[in-house]
Amino acid sequence: MCGIVGYIGNKEALPILIDGLKRLEYRGYDSAGFSVLNGNGIMTEKAVGKVVELENKVNGKNIKGSVGIAHTRWATHGKPSERNAHPHCDCEKNIFLVHNGIIENYKELKADLEKLGHKFSSETDTEVLAHLIEEYAKQVPWEEAVWRTLAHVQGTYGIATIKADDPERIIVARNGSPLVLGILEDGFIIASDIAPIVRHTDRVIYLEDGEMAEITKEKYEVINFKRKKVAKEISKIDWTLEEAEKKGYDHFMMKEIMEQPEAVENSIRGRLVVGEGIAKLGGLRDVAERTRHLKRIVIVSCGTSYYAGLVGKYMFEEYAGIRTDVEYASEFRYRKPILDEETAVLAISQSGETADTLAAIREAKNKGALTLGIVNVVGSTIARETDAGVYNHAGPEIGVASTKAFTSQLSILALFTLFLGRQRDMSYVMGKRIAEELEKIPELIKTILKQSGEIKKIAKKYSSFSNLFFLGRKYNFPIAMEGALKLKEISYAHAEGYPFGEMKHGPIALIDKNFPVVAIATKDSVYEKTMSGIQEVKARSGKVIALATKGDREIQKMVDDAVFVPKTLEMLTPLLSVVPLQLFAYYFAVNKSLDVDKPRNLAKSVTVE
Ligand code: F6R
Repeated sequence: MCGIVGYIGNKEALPILIDGLKRLEYRGYDSAGFSVLNGNGIMTEKAVGKVVELENKVNGKNIKGSVGIAHTRWATHGKPSERNAHPHCDCEKNIFLVHNGIIENYKELKADLEKLGHKFSSETDTEVLAHLIEEYAKQVPWEEAVWRTLAHVQGTYGIATIKADDPERIIVARNGSPLVLGILEDGFIIASDIAPIVRHTDRVIYLEDGEMAEITKEKYEVINFKRKKVAKEISKIDWTLEEAEKKGYDHFMMKEIMEQPEAVENSIRGRLVVGEGIAKLGGLRDVAERTRHLKRIVIVSCGTSYYAGLVGKYMFEEYAGIRTDVEYASEFRYRKPILDEETAVLAISQSGETADTLAAIREAKNKGALTLGIVNVVGSTIARETDAGVYNHAGPEIGVASTKAFTSQLSILALFTLFLGRQRDMSYVMGKRIAEELEKIPELIKTILKQSGEIKKIAKKYSSFSNLFFLGRKYNFPIAMEGALKLKEISYAHAEGYPFGEMKHGPIALIDKNFPVVAIATKDSVYEKTMSGIQEVKARSGKVIALATKGDREIQKMVDDAVFVPKTLEMLTPLLSVVPLQLFAYYFAVNKSLDVDKPRNLAKSVTVE
């Protein structure tokens, strides 16, 4: 968690740093700070709250300097406060440092440093880094002191550090937390991801774990943990600044919901060969012989990506005939998973940086499984560490609540199903049918988005309720879970997602007129069963909002409110049924005047365990 930015060049650093922090706020926003170097030393400012608080605090102050580092925090060690906000510094206020990650052995290091006389001024794990560098820098040059410090550290970090008495350099290093270096015409910008960089340049270098870079105004040098210089490849960013901005919507979340037709189209473009009923996945080309002989797939992911994985299980088992298990990455990594060479472990991750998913993939690799990824952020750690994979191409997702990444993940899972199914016994006819229906999905999503006014009214009607159920069966059971997650994370209402059939085994006891049910009741193979479930809820005075298939008049008579989605192949219904639930959660939260893009206690990219 947390976002870091650094700048060195010929321009004023502060505006670049503040702008960069704003673009990284999705990674954390409980406090922020910066340090800027000029000829007279280092100026540091910190503020609790969002970056705008920091910006307001320094507004009108004369903070000059063309070298600086900055940080937006999501607290792990120590509560959100100015004291705990980064940058942190050594005793002499000479070395300043920002950090994203967790130093696991900080308590021991801190105790040792205190014995040596170091005085700490925060409760953070990060501060030990500044003091340890200070300690080593008494004997060796700064860069060597950074190396020695990092050699003693257990945990994860992306760091950027500056030094008052060595003002022409920034030193950065990474292990487990992302760092990207943007190459400008007259300097460099370093950041946790490309969002702060994209408006300045499209030329970047992705640092790898174990690498450190020394950056001056004129040049950079990357060194690996063996102290060897590394010739890094310069990559080109293909996201535009405009794509990363709100395009006139009040919130990124709404913009991203509305972008779903395009996101799904981009995910399937060039990959779906409708006439042949196949999916061409260039990212799987090198492992195609292995995927042909796979006996099992284990999907590992978290949160919304986990629910996408659950839909993937239904798809893979029904159409590709491959046994599929879906695991919370945070559990998988602590179990003793039984894996072999005929198993593929498939990570699904929007950010490509989720610590639990990354750890699960590393464990799977150790055990000899083929590792695959469905990742949105190009060049992210999971994308780089998996043996093969498919990028979403959904564009940047900034809103903390995942929306377009989810429908994009579902469309990639449908492509995977085609790919794996056609390597096995899926017929041409079935392959063609899936491909034809998948190709229509973007247009069908557009028809749902046109109903946002209706959904807004329904959300308003229910927004005073503090408990809601989301129920669905088969392909729509994961969508019920996702609908509940969307609502709880942005509106703070208590929402429970359940498989409809489970309701009668306990949760039905909760149903009364104050506990409405959102029932996903599309016309599919489990429609009749779902209708019986709705009757059971109605018989207990429960209010029902149904998500039904267009043209279903029968359901409209039974329920309190209904939203309709077009008909598609059963396996693709989740791509449609989730959209009204995203809109429902959005309007429900907006009606409560909540900041949907930055819900409390959350961060977009969970790079801690
Ligand atoms: C919910 C949400 C989270 C993420 C989860 C995994 O709206 O965004 O539940 O889905 O933290 O993140 P990624 O997909 O980046 O691995």
